[in-house]
Amino acid sequence: MNSLNIKQLLDDLISQAMRHAGIDEPIAQIRQSQKPEFGHYQANGMMAAAKKAGSAPRMLAQRVVDMLDGHSEFDFEIAGPGFINIRLTAQFIERNMTDFQLHESPATRADTRTVVIDYSAPNLAKEMHIGHLRSTVIGDTAARVLEFCNHRVVRANHVGDWGAQFGSLLAYLDQITVPGEEISSKLVDLEKFYQSASKLFRVDQNFAAKAREYVVKLQRKDSRCHKLWEKFIAISLDHCQTVYHKLNISLTQADVKAESAYNDDLPVIVEQLQGRGLLTESDGAQCVFLDEFKGQNERPLPAIVRKSDGGYPYLATDLAAARYRSQIINADEVLYFVGASQQLHLRQVFAVASAAGFTKPQQIFRHLPFGLILKADGKPFKTRDGADVKLIDVLDEATRRAFTLINEKNSSMPEQQQLAVAEVVGIGAIKYAELSKNRTTDYIFDWDSMLSFEGNTAPYLQYAYTRIRSLFRKRPTQENSPVNRMTLTEDQEILLAIRVLQFTEAIDAYLEDYQANILCQYLYELASSFMKFYEHCPVLSEAQDIQDSRLHLAKVTAHILQTGLSLLGIQTVEQM
Ligand code: ARG
Repeated sequence: MNSLNIKQLLDDLISQAMRHAGIDEPIAQIRQSQKPEFGHYQANGMMAAAKKAGSAPRMLAQRVVDMLDGHSEFDFEIAGPGFINIRLTAQFIERNMTDFQLHESPATRADTRTVVIDYSAPNLAKEMHIGHLRSTVIGDTAARVLEFCNHRVVRANHVGDWGAQFGSLLAYLDQITVPGEEISSKLVDLEKFYQSASKLFRVDQNFAAKAREYVVKLQRKDSRCHKLWEKFIAISLDHCQTVYHKLNISLTQADVKAESAYNDDLPVIVEQLQGRGLLTESDGAQCVFLDEFKGQNERPLPAIVRKSDGGYPYLATDLAAARYRSQIINADEVLYFVGASQQLHLRQVFAVASAAGFTKPQQIFRHLPFGLILKADGKPFKTRDGADVKLIDVLDEATRRAFTLINEKNSSMPEQQQLAVAEVVGIGAIKYAELSKNRTTDYIFDWDSMLSFEGNTAPYLQYAYTRIRSLFRKRPTQENSPVNRMTLTEDQEILLAIRVLQFTEAIDAYLEDYQANILCQYLYELASSFMKFYEHCPVLSEAQDIQDSRLHLAKVTAHILQTGLSLLGIQTVEQM
C-alpha cells in the first residue's frame, strides 16, 4: 500500500518555508478543509508564529508563500486573517496516482512499537452476550491496523476465569452433586447452573459464605475444585472461539492469557507492594491508598489488593497483568478496550502499578472506554425477561436477515452463494454499525439501518466493491497491467483520486484516538466518490488512454476499499 501522507508532506513543506521565513520553531498546523472545495488543505500555524515573532500574520503568510514560489504541485493562497489555503494540482494527483503502489508497506512511522491490546476478555462460565461485541470488535480493529502499520501487536484476551463467579459455581455444583453421577458439561447447563448460583449468592448468606470459601480453595489449587474448573473453562473457551470465528475476529486460543494465569504472581505483588511501603491494612484487607483517589466527602479511597478472607480481587490480577506486560512483554504501549464503567478500576491499576515500579514511566498504559449498546427505545439491550442477549443468536439473526435481502436482490444467484454472501454482509453490517459510531458514546442497535444498502453501512461499501469487480470481469487483462500515465480531467475523477491518496491520512487520524468511525467515514466517502465517478465517467467505451487511466483509478479504489474493510475485520465478495 502507498505510504504517501499528504498532510505530513505539506506539514514538512510549510514548516521548512516558515523556517526560511525566519520562524525558529515552526508549527504548520495543516488540516484538511472542505472549503472552498473538498480536497483542499489549510495551514493555520501563521497566527501563533506571527504572534510570537511580533509580526502581522498575513505578512508572515505572504513571506512563507513567497518562499514556496515555484512549487508546481500545489497552489497556495492567503486567506482570512493569515491562513494559507493549499490546493493540490492535477499534476500532483496524477503523478501520485501513477506511482501508487498497491503492495508497498504502509508504515507511516519509522519506529516499530510493541503494543499489547487487551480486548474481548469475557467472563467465562457463561455465554458471550451482546455486551461483549464492542470490546471485541473495536479491539480487533486496533490490532489489525497496528499490525498493518508494522507494529508488533500482542493480543491479550484477559478472560475472567478466576473470580467470585467461579466460587459460586463450584459451591452450587457441590450442593447439587449426587455421588457417583457425572456433572453435565454442556454449555447450556453450565449457563443454567451459573444463573442459579448467582441467584443463591444474592439471597442466601450461607451460600455466599461458602462461595467465598470456594474462591479461596480454587486459588489455593484444591485438586477436585481445580479439575472441575478446568472442564468449565475448556467448554467456555471453545464457545468463545466459535463466536470469534463467526464474527471474523483474529483472536486465537494462543491469545488467551486468563486471570488465573497470574495466580502465582499475586502473593508476590502483595509482597512487593509491602516492600515499597505502599500497603495499609484496613478492616483486615490489604490496601493501597494513593492521594489522587478520593471517595465521597474526600475520604481516601482504597485500592484493595488482598481481601480479609485471603482472596485476591480483580485489581490484584490486573496489577500482575500490568507488571507482566511491562516487564516480560516489554510493551511500549498497552491499550485496554474496556467499558467506561471500569474507568476508576483501571485508573487505580495504572497508578498503583506505576507507584510500585511494576511499570516504567515511558510505557503508555491507556484505557479506551466505550459506551453501551441500546435498544431502539433507548433501554439496555436485554431479553424481555431481563436476561443478556446471546451474541451468537445476534450473529445468526444478522446472517438470516442478510440472506432475505440478498435473495430479494439477486434471486438468480445459486443458493449456496447467496448463503455465503449473506454471512459476509450480515456480519459485516453488525461490525460496521459498531465501528462507525463514536466509540465513547452509547448507540442504538438497529437492524434496518445497519443492513441498508444506502448510507454509511457495510453493505453499501461491499456493494461499491462489487461494482468495481464487475468492471474487471469485463476487462480481465487490465487487472494487473500498470498504468503509464494518468489523465484526470473530470471533477468526479479528480475528487476520487484525492480520496484515494488520503488513505494513509485516514489511518493516522484513526490511530490518534482509536476512533474507527474516522476510518469508516473515510471509506464511505471513498465509496460514494467512486459511485459518483462511475455515474459520470464512462470507462470501457472511452479511448485507450482514458480507459487505462480510469481502470487504474477503479482498481486502486477497490484495493483500498478491500484493505480498509479488512482492517475493520470485514470481508468482501466478488458479487452480491
Ligand atoms: N473480564 C472483564 C469483564 O468482563 C473485562 C476484563 C478487561 N481487562 C482487564 N485487564 N481488566 O468485565
